Amino acid sequence: MRVLVTGGAGFIGSHFAKRLAAAGHEVVVLDKLTYSGNRANLEGADVELVVGDICDADAVARAGAGCEAVVNFAAETHVDRSILGAAEFIETDVHGTYVLLGWARDTGARLVQVSTDEVYGDVPEGQSSREDDPLRPSSPYSASKAGGDLQVLAAVRTFGIDACITRGANTYGPNQHPEKLIPLFVTNALDGEPLPVYGDGRQRREWLHAEDHCAAVERVLQEGRPGEVYNVGGEEHENLDVTKWVLAFTKADSDLVRHVEDRPGHDRRYSLDDSKLRALGWSPSHSLSGSGLRQTVEWYEQNRAWWEPIKSGEYRRYYEEQYGARLR
Ligand code: TYD
Repeated sequence: MRVLVTGGAGFIGSHFAKRLAAAGHEVVVLDKLTYSGNRANLEGADVELVVGDICDADAVARAGAGCEAVVNFAAETHVDRSILGAAEFIETDVHGTYVLLGWARDTGARLVQVSTDEVYGDVPEGQSSREDDPLRPSSPYSASKAGGDLQVLAAVRTFGIDACITRGANTYGPNQHPEKLIPLFVTNALDGEPLPVYGDGRQRREWLHAEDHCAAVERVLQEGRPGEVYNVGGEEHENLDVTKWVLAFTKADSDLVRHVEDRPGHDRRYSLDDSKLRALGWSPSHSLSGSGLRQTVEWYEQNRAWWEPIKSGEYRRYYEEQYGARLR
């Protein structure tokens, strides 16, 4: 099958594009190559890369020519950046999704919208989010993703589009931009830089390996029912435990840990009930506390040439704005 993978030069999108290509599918990647998209993520992969924006209907139509499906990974995804300014989040995550839905409507192609557990907001201890739970996003980022999800569901109902949504947990693995918790802490630890833990560090997240996340999205592409949402869960851990393991695997000094001013609106916990997806036959094959985190640390140790250039220029400006005062 010929598939359009939008955001396919980003972290999860590039894992997905490579996975489909390796399975013999024809893959066209449409990616704007913003700060988080990276040609290096697709090096050696048998995919066609078209540089363009999902908000540009002509670019989508050109890249999507002949494709039977689109899988949308293109998004602004970092909560802290959305707190600094959300205009691009609303543009890409809501308007961009709307443009892809228009293309799917015109061509009859199937659409899989890759979303996030953050749309459900904080989940109290002992509970897990189900797909039909209300959306209570806490950050400008998660509100933008929720807006995109609602556009998808409305387009299925109103126009009969063939679309599904996946809502994945916090994802980790090789090629993740070092603004996110795990790659930020791993690369800082390798460089002897501080690890800025927000607040008390007792927040809990579910951790999902990029390969398991992509296997879930592929299954939904093949077997998901139109108009349905599928949660993709992970292994739940407190941020302080993840931090402790990062220190152990990088052999860094625990003095590097710095508790800094908390993120405003910071969700304490996410938890997904993913029994609906498991009923389709999906289950994860990686475990963060098993070998998942250790292998990810090894990848960052062995691939400085990938992340060192990223941690310069624009990144330094962002880092100063986000962490400068917190760390001083
Ligand atoms: P992050 O990777 O930004 O994902 P999300 O906010 O989408 O879950 O953060 C994961 C957790 O780690 C979250 O509770 C915030 C926390 N965190 C820190 O404590 N310090 C940091 O510098 C970052 C980036 C995150």
